[in-house]
Amino acid sequence: MNKKSTNKVALIGTGFVGSSYAFALLNQGVTEELVMIDVNKEKAEGDAIDLKHGLAFASPMKIYAGDYEDCRDADIVVITAGANQQPGETRLDLVEKNVKIFESIVNSVMESGFDGIFLVATNPVDILSYATWKFSGLPKERVIGSGTILDTSRLRYLVGEEFDIDPRNIHAYIMGEHGDTEFPVWSHTTIGASNLSEIVDMTEKETQEKLEDIFVNVRDAAYHIIQQKGATYYGIAMGLVRITKAILRNENSVLTISGLLEGEYGQEDLYIGVPAIINREGIRKLIELPLNKTEQKQFEHSAATLKQVINQTF
Ligand code: LAC
Repeated sequence: MNKKSTNKVALIGTGFVGSSYAFALLNQGVTEELVMIDVNKEKAEGDAIDLKHGLAFASPMKIYAGDYEDCRDADIVVITAGANQQPGETRLDLVEKNVKIFESIVNSVMESGFDGIFLVATNPVDILSYATWKFSGLPKERVIGSGTILDTSRLRYLVGEEFDIDPRNIHAYIMGEHGDTEFPVWSHTTIGASNLSEIVDMTEKETQEKLEDIFVNVRDAAYHIIQQKGATYYGIAMGLVRITKAILRNENSVLTISGLLEGEYGQEDLYIGVPAIINREGIRKLIELPLNKTEQKQFEHSAATLKQVINQTF
């Protein structure tokens, strides 16, 4: 990792997600330097200029459009480039085209001499995080996928709505694939300072139906938003800024990201959404939650779904 005094982020892809990420990064004052790279150079240039015109309202930040050689001294390279879900498409439907795009992107970044942390957002994010780890040859700690960070935020928001509690005081996790096989870890959910099971009778049919409704809303959120506005970008952009902040500020925060399992949860050679401690070095540690029987089965199903795609693709 380079030892510069200021933080630098390189963003690859200035589409909806990438430009929303850049906007959130600027407004939250997370880094001192941002280089924006896109195959559409005009777009990257236009975004950089547009953002710079807001600098009088934000903390100082060097923002410019650049190219892969500008990744050399970046602390983090964030990849949002690639094809995104069209109405009716699942995230896994994007594998073939985006793995090819990623091979070219990651090789170009590594040719610059980059020796920092990759943060992957493009879907299917678990598969593309695995691809980035494979293609880059970087240690697993320094290849992070956005994983289920947004799903976890959606869950916290909806549970907070249900119980009229600030989502920041809801500790709940979505784990597994960032996609149709993800699942909620109700057994480790706290609301304020109380366990969920202390607040509601988890065996009550009505409660189970309500919690299932909440989970289905989380799992299918992207499909609905894509139908309504064509893509999702604000939520994921803020999740990416959250991870960026945890890295650059050496926070040791617990976030549900996509990380490489090497034995955790009984799984090997697989990127999947799990809680992890994130700091300046990347993933400090993957956290192994003691899942109940239902959750363990859901985890195994999600892992098997991703493993099948990994085995078919690499
Ligand atoms: C979503 C995209 C980021 O869930 O997959 O909105």
